[in-house]
This record gives sequence, C-alpha cells and structure tokens, in this order.
Amino acid sequence: MESKKTLGELYRNGIALLGDRPQAVLEAKVLLLRAAAVTEARFLAAPDKPCSSKAEAFFLRLVGRRLDGVPLAYLTGKKEFWSIPFEVSPSVLVPRPETEVLVEKVLGLATREDESILDVGTGSGCIAVALAKELPRARIQAVDISERALRVARRNAALHKAGHIQFHRCSLFSAFRGTGVRFDFIVSNPPYISRGEWDGLPPEVRDFEPRRALLAGESGLELIERLIRRAGTFLRPGGYLIFEIGDGQRDRVLSLFGKRWTEIETAWDLAGQPRVITARRA
Ligand SMILES: C[S@@+](CC[C@H](N)C(=O)[O-])C[C@H]1O[C@@H](n2cnc3c(N)ncnc32)[C@H](O)[C@@H]1O
Repeated sequence: MESKKTLGELYRNGIALLGDRPQAVLEAKVLLLRAAAVTEARFLAAPDKPCSSKAEAFFLRLVGRRLDGVPLAYLTGKKEFWSIPFEVSPSVLVPRPETEVLVEKVLGLATREDESILDVGTGSGCIAVALAKELPRARIQAVDISERALRVARRNAALHKAGHIQFHRCSLFSAFRGTGVRFDFIVSNPPYISRGEWDGLPPEVRDFEPRRALLAGESGLELIERLIRRAGTFLRPGGYLIFEIGDGQRDRVLSLFGKRWTEIETAWDLAGQPRVITARRA
C-alpha cells in the first residue's frame, strides 16, 4: 500500500526527528535510501515519488533505533573502508578510518607481489580484503576468535572477489602452532580498551559494538602483549609485525619489545595520534 507521504516529505520528517544530532541531514538521507531501497540519484531526481507504507514504517523504525544510539553502519549494514564498501553487522567492529594507516604501512613495506600475510582479529575482514585488493597475489590468512565475525568476513571476501583469503577461527596464532608456517607480515587491529576506559566510551560504541572486539583486560594491553610475545615464532626473520594501538599506549607498548625486534617505528593517524606500531623480527 502507498503511504500518503512522498520521499521528500519523509526525508524532512527524518531530519526533524534526528534534529539534535550533528549529522541529522546526512543520516536522514542515508536511512531513507536504505528504507525505500532507492539510490541517491533516483531520490534526488524524484523526491515527489510516493513512498510505500512499508518503507515509511521501516524508515521510522530505523530513525527510532538511531535515536536510541545504534551506530548508523549497523542500521545500513554497510561501511566504507579503503574506499571499499564492507558489509557490517553487530557481530563486527565498524571499520575505522584510522585503521587505514595500518594498510598504508603494509603496502609501503611490501616488496614482493606474493607476500604472505596474517591478519589477527580480522572482524569484518576489512584489513585482509583491502590488502587482497592491493596485492592480488599475496597469500593472506585471517583469524578471529568469533565465528559470527568470520561469517561476515567471508561474505566480504566473496563480495570483493578475494576468495583466496583463508579464514580460521582461533585465538591469536593457535591455528598455526606446530605447522612451521612463517609469515612475511603479521598485522592486527586488536582490542585495546582498558577496563578503566570502558565506562568512558561513547555509549554508541560501548553499548552496541562487540565487547570482545574492544576490551583487552585491566590494562588494555593484554592482546598486544601476547601479540608481541608470540608473533616472532610465526614471522620469518626480517618479517614485520604491524598493529594498531590506542590513545596514550605508545610508550608502554614500545617498552614491551625485546632484543628479538628491530626497526621499531610509529605511524600517526590524521588526528595526530600515534596509531600504528611497526617492528621487524631481527
Ligand atoms: C578491534 S576489532 C578489529 C576488527 C577489524 N580487524 C578492524 O580493524 O575493523 C578486534 C577483533 O579481534 C577479535 N579478537 C579478540 N580477541 C581475539 C583473540 N584472542 N584471537 C583472535 N581474535 C580475537 C575480535 O573478535 C574482533 O573481531
């Protein structure tokens, strides 16, 4: 059944309802396009097109959930990373632009077309898929402790024709223990929020994104410590460990590297925060 409202009228209703939010105009449009299943071009060309009652009800439901704080990406099911559209669901962290620094770092250091790369804590698969697009001959494996996250990652790999990425469900390196496999690169955006920081996170993050993707023990460094301690065993000599860190963690993280590591460097994100640590296995 057709609603009495046009797309344009619903759009304006959405803006009014989302009025207090800084991105109300953009968010109303994104949610309307999702609810009415129209492209932006079609909406702009025909804002007077009547909307179905079903689409109107869906739109108002999405707006309501946004007002409850549900991240926009979970409502649309999509988020762009490295200019590639990724499927996202509440089972995975929403990819963040600062993680692109990590992808840039790998591409800057890769010297061969067929580098072997392990992505630890792949989540939506955004890092692994971005690297697979840039290095089509690379041999990429990706692990996550969450089977639900891996399902999303596998769909993203298939969507972007990166079917050669091999996914494993395991904790850190356990799938490779005893196999003798050695990688040229181990990359990771691990959980790095401390218990103390947890309560201060924006509710949109704390209440909706997967806890296991964010929280890393009392110090926030639990996963990073284990990565540094064990990665050497799974890297070939001269291979790189490259991982993301949280705000204020740089000095503590640098103190965790022992004699096994050289060329330890920091890369900053666009906000000026130390964001990615690179270290080379001696
Ligand atoms: C911060 S999210 C990063 C997701 C994705 N790589 C990104 O950059 O958007 C961390 C991911 O690590 C996974 N994870 C947490 N503990 C893990 C562990 N012990 N072993 C493997 N993966 C783990 C979580 O399930 C989550 O998907």
